[in-house]
Amino acid sequence: MPDKLVTDSLSEQIHILRYEDINGNNRLFGGKLVSWIDEVACITAMRHCGTNVTTASIDQLQFRAPAYLNDIVSVTGKLTYIGRTSMEVLVESYIEYEGVKVQLINRAYLTVVSIDSNNQPVPVKFGLTFVSDEEKHEHDQALKRVELRKQRRKEGF
Ligand SMILES: CC(C)(COP(=O)(O)OP(=O)(O)OC[C@H]1O[C@@H](n2cnc3c(N)ncnc32)[C@H](O)[C@@H]1OP(=O)(O)O)[C@@H](O)C(=O)NCCC(=O)NCCS
Repeated sequence: MPDKLVTDSLSEQIHILRYEDINGNNRLFGGKLVSWIDEVACITAMRHCGTNVTTASIDQLQFRAPAYLNDIVSVTGKLTYIGRTSMEVLVESYIEYEGVKVQLINRAYLTVVSIDSNNQPVPVKFGLTFVSDEEKHEHDQALKRVELRKQRRKEGF
């Protein structure tokens, strides 16, 4: 199968924050944002591999800044690594103003696994070509994270 490009599976969700998204401190509820992040990561991975997927882990999830009622929040996903059955997706969440991403509010790296109809891991059929310097840099960093995750799993975490 031919390689795909990172841009082939880029994904973006846009939300306007409503009362139901807000916590007791009048800010965006972190759990709500995490559910959007998980969804975007899975959509990004599914666009690449064309199978069902499941989330194996979320790493380095950082809430960088709050968001408030009526803010427009954009959640974007892009692939940084393809393993045998797993894919790593970087998800970044921003507040938008007049169509411009003005404030990064969250970053996270999710490992998403391609699965079959029995929920068992299956190989990802497509490789991934990294074109821009930024994509290549993210991929280099991803290789380090993959090693760390393997190490952690060996140690039983
Ligand atoms: C994710 C899951 C399918 C992996 O199954 P498994 O039997 O451990 O399979 P494997 O050991 O062959 O791992 C499959 C791939 O996932 C990766 N993986 C497994 N557990 C992982 C973890 N905790 N963190 C990161 N990667 C992980 C492996 O490195 C491997 O990647 P590779 O094929 O690219 O090398 C299984 O643990 C599972 O179903 N977990 C629950 C998922 C879930 O319910 N998610 C929340 C709802 S979406």
